[in-house]
Amino acid sequence: MSISYGSFPGTRPRRLRTTPAMRRMVAETRLHPAELILPAFVREGVSEPVPLQSMPGVVQHSRDTLRKAAAEAVAAGIGGIMLFGVPEESKKDAVGTPGTDPDGILQVAIRDVRAEVGDDLVIMSDLCLDEHVDHGHCGVLDAEGRVDNDATLERYAEMARVQADAGVHTVGPSGMMDGQVRVVREALDGAGHQDVSILAYTAKYASAFYGPFREAVGSSLKGDRKTYQQDPANARESLRELELDLAEGADMVMVKPALPYLDILRQFADAVDVPVAAYQISGEYAMVEAAAANGWIDRDRAIMETLTSVRRAGAGLILTYWATEVARRLNRGEQPGG
Ligand code: PBG
Repeated sequence: MSISYGSFPGTRPRRLRTTPAMRRMVAETRLHPAELILPAFVREGVSEPVPLQSMPGVVQHSRDTLRKAAAEAVAAGIGGIMLFGVPEESKKDAVGTPGTDPDGILQVAIRDVRAEVGDDLVIMSDLCLDEHVDHGHCGVLDAEGRVDNDATLERYAEMARVQADAGVHTVGPSGMMDGQVRVVREALDGAGHQDVSILAYTAKYASAFYGPFREAVGSSLKGDRKTYQQDPANARESLRELELDLAEGADMVMVKPALPYLDILRQFADAVDVPVAAYQISGEYAMVEAAAANGWIDRDRAIMETLTSVRRAGAGLILTYWATEVARRLNRGEQPGG
């Protein structure tokens, strides 16, 4: 690299910023609808969608409106949908029975969406117990009330089988139990579901930004998830989780949350040859919406800037509650840069 200061200022980076066309042409990062994945909640027993107070614009879908949202996602050209089921409160129990019941809300939703969109969208499902248990943890508890890793794995294996039977393309184990990817892979293969892929929540941090999600799934959690989700202070630990998930058979790996962990994302993108995803989580969504509602930031620009940053840091796939909206904007020609 040679920068000439001979006839100051001989080098003028501003030349490449002069017009929208110039900026668009030299932009290094572009977004495409196909790399966006829409997380969607479906609630058992409701006939109308239920708005979420802490996530303005996001709802708990009824079965009908979920199908519509999936059809709209296809029309907008986005890559996938990640489904979360919210069972009726009375059905939750200590072991998360709705999560393994073939007629549990998540399995019903997978079948609905598959019937609606077939293979036109990658249908993904959250593989975790927290939405289905009355204590809100991501696993089952032992006699002392601690999350029991290996007993939880048995439940995850069963969840993998019923979700695959329902027609999901990709499962997303998100509970941060040791060995979860291996157990899920073996369960899928053992049930003849070799083609069902695994998007592993590889680096998942114990984040304050999950707050609004807990409302979204009607979480019963008291306490925190710090004995299984990672400490925000640690980066190298994520590389260890990455090595393990790949060895156990992850097809795609994920970093979550997104914006506070761009350094981890960059390290993953540099280290692996599988797709790397980032989950722009509920609190990231809520912060932008809340600031915009107060007139403190330009909503549309802020959304595009956050997604561009996540993409620039190395994510090939982005889960975002704005997926369909942003895909529509991209389809109209809007892009980072310009
Ligand atoms: C666990 C799960 C969570 C999220 C996705 N999967 C919650 C948690 O770990 O507490 C959070 C998503 C978000 O905040 O948008 N099933």
